[in-house]
Amino acid sequence: MKTEAELRHLLSEMTQEEKIAQTTQVIINYYQKTGTEVTGPMGQLGIKSESMKDLGSVLGTAFAEDVIAIQKKYLAENRLHIPMLFMTDVIHGYRTIYPIPLGLGASFDPALVEECSAMAAAEASANGIQLTFAPMADYVRDARWGRVMESFGEDPLLNSTLCAAETVGFQGRDGDVSKPDRIAACVKHVAAYGGAESGRDYNSVEISERLLREYYFPAYKACIDAGAKALMPSFNSLNGIPSTANSWLMKEVVRGEWGFDGVAISDWGAVMELVRHGVAADRKEAARLAGENECDIEMMSSAYYNHLAELVAEGIIRQETLDRMVLRILRLKNDLGLFDDPFHGASPEKAKALSLCEAHRALALRAAEESAVLLKNDGVLPFSTEVKKIALIGPYASEHAIIGQWKARGLAEESVSVEEGVRRLLPDTEILTATGCSFLWDDLSEEGFAEAVETAKGADAVILCLGEPDRYSGEGKCRTDLRLPGAQEKLAKAVSTVNKNTALLLFAGRPLVLTEVEKTVPAILEMWFPGNEGGNAAAHLLFGKACPCGKLPMSFPKATGQVPLYYNRPSTGRPKKKPEGVYEDFTSNYIDCGNLALYPFGYGLSYASFVYSSLTLDKTSLDPDGELTVTVRVKNEGSVEGKETVQLYLRDLVASTVRPTQSLIAFEKVTLAPGEERDVVFKITEPMLRFYDFHCVFRSEAGEFQISTGCADRLILTKTFTLTEGRS
Ligand code: GLC
Repeated sequence: MKTEAELRHLLSEMTQEEKIAQTTQVIINYYQKTGTEVTGPMGQLGIKSESMKDLGSVLGTAFAEDVIAIQKKYLAENRLHIPMLFMTDVIHGYRTIYPIPLGLGASFDPALVEECSAMAAAEASANGIQLTFAPMADYVRDARWGRVMESFGEDPLLNSTLCAAETVGFQGRDGDVSKPDRIAACVKHVAAYGGAESGRDYNSVEISERLLREYYFPAYKACIDAGAKALMPSFNSLNGIPSTANSWLMKEVVRGEWGFDGVAISDWGAVMELVRHGVAADRKEAARLAGENECDIEMMSSAYYNHLAELVAEGIIRQETLDRMVLRILRLKNDLGLFDDPFHGASPEKAKALSLCEAHRALALRAAEESAVLLKNDGVLPFSTEVKKIALIGPYASEHAIIGQWKARGLAEESVSVEEGVRRLLPDTEILTATGCSFLWDDLSEEGFAEAVETAKGADAVILCLGEPDRYSGEGKCRTDLRLPGAQEKLAKAVSTVNKNTALLLFAGRPLVLTEVEKTVPAILEMWFPGNEGGNAAAHLLFGKACPCGKLPMSFPKATGQVPLYYNRPSTGRPKKKPEGVYEDFTSNYIDCGNLALYPFGYGLSYASFVYSSLTLDKTSLDPDGELTVTVRVKNEGSVEGKETVQLYLRDLVASTVRPTQSLIAFEKVTLAPGEERDVVFKITEPMLRFYDFHCVFRSEAGEFQISTGCADRLILTKTFTLTEGRS
């Protein structure tokens, strides 16, 4: 490793052109086929071939062989032998794919998230990847947005906890990313990309500072506090200024308040897009704005490459600013140990041994089982393994595309389909399949219904396999109608009408509107996009080899019109008093729909039966330096072992700004054997009661608080305590 002095000396030896080339990142195939017309909004980058030896980093390499070959060539040509940095999106696995983050969020299990991220890091680094553009720490409330699949959902505590765990999983607990099997984490997309108006990707974001700080910022900060080496500002404008050029965000908050001095890398073409946003007249001004805000690397546009030198020469960008940007890049390469091992442990043999190995598949299976959420069960699940004939009905019955978007180098054809999973579990059982209909939103054909209904009629158990196609989820994939696409709702009704022993498996990258389906289907199991082991996980869960334990990280609306829908909402001055679904004049509700989610945040059923008998406080008055002990007694009165995420919700009854009627303040996942009773103990302290007041002062205020357990919208065992004095 180089010392800081040696890095500064290296910087002093670099020419201006070499410095600026370090701030430029291109996709690997552009690097390899210089001067190629780059598709999409980029247009010609205009980067000269002779500059390729000086570019600081590339994104999108696939395998160790490529990286080793490129790095060898690059080092031989680079005058100062500064190693190239290789980055890509490792979001939920590299070759072995586990559930999408929204699914993993349902596990409420930081240890599992850390373990999965460490697995992904081992596979990625063996393949030459040195940095991942993850965690995606965007807080989300709008299921129309295609990228909710990448998020851990609508609660800041859950989002922060799991994002920190993911960061540590990638970088190791000691944060030493020079070690093989580690990759540097890049927290994104700062900030509030998930708050895009109308749930439409890349759209404007207008959110008060108070809400930014309370809901959208915590997870980014949690990643930085966990040691994330890099950060990516978001495409969107935030309160009028695109994040990449937003000084309040990038300098006052990120570099100032949060003290982040790692590398900031733009999103793909985001520097050039400042022109499209209309905040830069041309690419030179775009380079000025991004440079002034010390976005150290420009991904896939060439404003820096073509204009930084003149901006510095004209004194518009200070030389020390450019030097600071380049020094951060050199430090990152140094932290990764690239000056000693420019290949960072890349090894084709190791990559082959790790990819989809038994241990990794086993972890992916466990993650898929723990991410699944049992939304409804009128007693049909778990199915008996003694059934003679099973019908698999629907477009996902034999579908392999269940690994979701942002699958890095995962291959759908390597995943286990539902049909394969059920056949593997029950090799001697007769299994019939019928697609029934398409999952495309504009294909309403019911031609396959008759066959599907006939197949269902004669079966002992029916597994409906429905959902949205994975190409309806992810970046740029926003929907205005969250119901099951195509004729799937009708198929569900037709099949569940002829056979009551029916369970629905759902595959999707977002909460769907299941209001119609819920009326006729007796059991619903949400699988999300579960990854390579999805079919095995589904079979294990359906037939009781595994017990569902997931809890929703994001609300499932009754109707798309309710969105954005989230559980942590204020009361309003006219809260409804009448029952859900009953319209009430002159109160905050809809004529044609209830207010609540069909399935709320934190909700999920089990095959076990968890009974909460008490919630007790060791005191009813909390001094600001004191500690309140909350004990929740829960018992498994079922006949099978199960895992339960015990959740604690807070309500600040009176405060200087409106407060949500329920906020998750703590959670703990416990495993209980049949008949086992457990006291789950939580400690509440004054800092946990703080919020951002109207002036964005982070403070607590004396007064009464309610503490409850259960899940959102279905709180139980509520008790009250008083905070004697507020603090800030
Ligand atoms: C994309 C995404 C970002 C990703 C980057 C590189 O447009 O917005 O999340 O890391 O480009 O693939």
